[in-house]
Amino acid sequence: MNFKLHWAVAVSGMLMTGVAHSVDNIAGLASTCNNCHGTGGVSVGHSMPSIAGLSEAYLKNIMMEWKTGARASANMTRLIKGYTDDEIAALAKYYASLPWKPVVQPVSAQIMAQGKDVVERCETCHGPTGGSPDDASVPRLNGQWAKYLELELMKYRDPGFQMTHKKMTRNARKLEEGDVSAISQYFAAQEK
Ligand code: HEC
Ligand code: HEC
Repeated sequence: MNFKLHWAVAVSGMLMTGVAHSVDNIAGLASTCNNCHGTGGVSVGHSMPSIAGLSEAYLKNIMMEWKTGARASANMTRLIKGYTDDEIAALAKYYASLPWKPVVQPVSAQIMAQGKDVVERCETCHGPTGGSPDDASVPRLNGQWAKYLELELMKYRDPGFQMTHKKMTRNARKLEEGDVSAISQYFAAQEK
């Protein structure tokens, strides 16, 4: 009994110092994330999103939704459950404090024109180039990786995939199938 109690106290003590340490050492905590998301949260490619410079509110919300299971993610759900709410809040604050660094991916004039035709359905919230979100719940799209944007749009469009945001879901489902890739590439090609 005594032994068990001591053991429990020792373990919870270790966990608590672990947490305090991690939140203090944000660069250490973020280094795990940067293994996938790139140095300083700027991704080197394709289906991996850049996360530096997204808003604190967006980052915190999406991570907490994965943690509670409200929102699905093939890659992030299991991983994020290993972080405390305080660590998630600290990570959101940290990545939001870093600059958004668009990776401009050039596209053909034809794709650009197709994207321009569609973007009026997106620009009230994301801005005409995806670089001026109208509030903190809206992620930046300019210079985000095209493949990633396309995969996310397919999730919003799929009734079997658990996403939470009703308005974004509705907008994604209104797109013509043939426009999904074009609008993704259009935003990915924007510098600002
Ligand atoms: C093993 C690779 C891997 C690691 C490690 C990882 N992520 Fe991710 N993350 C992904 C992938 C892949 C996606 C996009 C697809 C998805 O949701 O599964 C993603 C998506 C995200 C997004 C959504 C970005 C957006 O534009 O909506 C955020 C935010 C995020 N991760 C934050 C983090 C943080 C913070 C950490 C560290 C605690 C982390 N990730 C660690 C692979 C990883
Ligand atoms: C009513 C406002 C609104 C409109 C209109 C809108 N969006 Fe969104 N969009 C959002 C919000 C808010 C989010 C984040 C939702 C969430 O948390 O899942 C988002 C997320 C996204 C994402 C995911 C980005 C990431 O980093 O994970 C993509 C891609 C996207 N929007 C593309 C579009 C496209 C393309 C259109 C036009 C066809 C569009 N949006 C129209 C509000 C909007």
